[in-house]
Amino acid sequence: MNVKAASFKQTAEREEKFQLATYKKMPIVAERGEGAWLYTGDGQRYLDLYGGHAVAGTGHSHPHVVAAIREQSEKLLFYSNLVYSATRARAAEKLVSIAPEPLKKVFFCNSGTEANENAMRMARLATSREKIISFTGGFHGRTADAISATFLGNYQKLGRPNVPGHMRAEFGKFESVRKIADETVAAIILEPIQSMAGVRTAEPGFFRSLKDLCDELEIILIYDEVQTGVGRTGDWFFAGGSAGDRIVPDIITLAKALGSGIPVGACLVSEKIAGHIKENDLGTTFGGGMLAMAAVTATLEAMENDLMLENVRQVEAHLRNRLAEIPDVTRVRGLGFLLGLEFADKAAAIHEGLLARNVITGTSSDPNVLRLLPPLCLKTAEIDLFVDELKTLLATLAPQEA
Ligand SMILES: Cc1ncc(COP(=O)(O)O)c(C=O)c1O
Repeated sequence: MNVKAASFKQTAEREEKFQLATYKKMPIVAERGEGAWLYTGDGQRYLDLYGGHAVAGTGHSHPHVVAAIREQSEKLLFYSNLVYSATRARAAEKLVSIAPEPLKKVFFCNSGTEANENAMRMARLATSREKIISFTGGFHGRTADAISATFLGNYQKLGRPNVPGHMRAEFGKFESVRKIADETVAAIILEPIQSMAGVRTAEPGFFRSLKDLCDELEIILIYDEVQTGVGRTGDWFFAGGSAGDRIVPDIITLAKALGSGIPVGACLVSEKIAGHIKENDLGTTFGGGMLAMAAVTATLEAMENDLMLENVRQVEAHLRNRLAEIPDVTRVRGLGFLLGLEFADKAAAIHEGLLARNVITGTSSDPNVLRLLPPLCLKTAEIDLFVDELKTLLATLAPQEA
């Protein structure tokens, strides 16, 4: 065994010895990153089309974000919400400035699941009702209320005993919502593009119908934009965009790419919701901490400075054109840089084959779908590299048995 392989083995063994094995890991020891590239300790580089679970929106270690974090860390790492902070004020103003009308206030927390917990609590406080409707295939996190709203795989079972009052409707099928919605429902929560379910979208009219129903029954509409938010669709948010018939919900939840890797979550809410929330209704020690706030502002600035939203739209179009050259890709689902490549056979072998060719992609709960969640700075040349690797790989893979 050479020295580099020995060092990989040592790190993997040590991690496995001391960390609970809750994830199936790739055989990579990540050391540093730059843009869409991840470098290992043994001198290899990987084209990262997964971005560490969609977190590396600005790319790995974007210099503007790194400088902002460094500068903030030398001044003050943290103080809680008991004091004002210019860094927090700037982040809140910046985030609200890109939010669609009428979302004018933000609550900061630390993760996607926490953002969803707080969004559901706000809906209950605003309506004095308790029930929540969510959808088959949606994923909202692993804490008690969020996992109870997650009708995907065996998450409900994992979350037992579930929080009472959660109801399930069929994603994309408005009639299934209409049947169970009434004046006792506090909120409807959905991922507007269901990522883990295999990048499943609904017709624009579905979002319009949901909004009309929510208005009629005074139900709070929550979009979980933990994956779709912060530029990934080629717009700042799915909400307000044409794929969702320009509908804006009452609450948007965010996390993942918002801090470029510094943990941060957020709920964007309308004044109407904000009016129901008073001191002590919500809280978190770390939410709104200075380091995370510096990362939020710098993340949004980096995306603006580098025209990343425009880049997503252009590069997505290029990728779709190139994928059209590959008959094995039977369909491309999703929007922007949240894409699901559908194959006739299982995608796991393709995921592994690409990894062996130094390209990181993602799988999903749909076995035939390969997921791409790349940094928003991904370049056309990098897409060409991916497509070439995919073509070469597919040529070597024997057809799978049914
Ligand atoms: C759509 C969606 N919502 C919520 C979450 C939970 O976020 P976190 O892991 O930060 O708690 C995830 C995580 O993958 C997600 O994809």
